[in-house]
Amino acid sequence: MSNQRQLVLNLFIYPGGHHEAAWRYKGSEPDRILDITHYQELAQRAEASKFDAIFFADGPALADNVRYAQRFRFEPITWLAAIAAVTKRIGLIATASTTYTEPYNLARLFASLDHLSQGRAGWNIVTTSAPQAAQNFGLPEHPPHHERYERAREYLDVISRLWDSWEDDASSTIPPPAFSPIPARSTHSTTSANTSAFAAP
Ligand SMILES: Cc1cc2nc3c(=O)[nH]c(=O)nc-3n(C[C@H](O)[C@H](O)[C@H](O)COP(=O)(O)O)c2cc1C
Repeated sequence: MSNQRQLVLNLFIYPGGHHEAAWRYKGSEPDRILDITHYQELAQRAEASKFDAIFFADGPALADNVRYAQRFRFEPITWLAAIAAVTKRIGLIATASTTYTEPYNLARLFASLDHLSQGRAGWNIVTTSAPQAAQNFGLPEHPPHHERYERAREYLDVISRLWDSWEDDASSTIPPPAFSPIPARSTHSTTSANTSAFAAP
């Protein structure tokens, strides 16, 4: 067995920069913040430099400093789909919230990204800490920490079973396709109470 240790390199791309005035720094390109070719070029440079993955942070609410800092960004899974088309090897990690999405939608989005990138999708699982997100979903308040994590645990169980409801070679099978519906459960409304479900890419 080899004792050689290997470092895994992940590029955290934060469009306006982590410092709120970073976009004003000489050499930055704030006019390209919504230009997909900017991110495609960054990902290609990271891939050529032997990085293992790129990563996009996200949250379903605007940051408080949006009035004076450049805080625009694309939705991460859509963003990574465009990057997948111009890269070959680098991992593509998107942040998504277990508090403000449903497992079926997210299972399908990540399954699509994974298929179209030939197995390069990764998920930064968060429960969202920004309380202002609640207002974007018509909730009276942001769920407390223990509730978010309780839902997250069930969510991970459900989404894993949705992904596993297809056999690995299901897409190349001539009918009937190899899938098994998962039983419904409803503690946190993470699947419908009356139907079985399976994730479609
Ligand atoms: C490297 C890194 C990236 C993170 N990215 C996000 C993110 O994109 N969105 C988010 O809501 N939280 C993000 N977080 C925050 C964590 O998911 C978590 O909410 C935070 O550490 C607080 O932990 P708690 O929820 O257990 O209190 C990130 C944390 C770290 C260390």
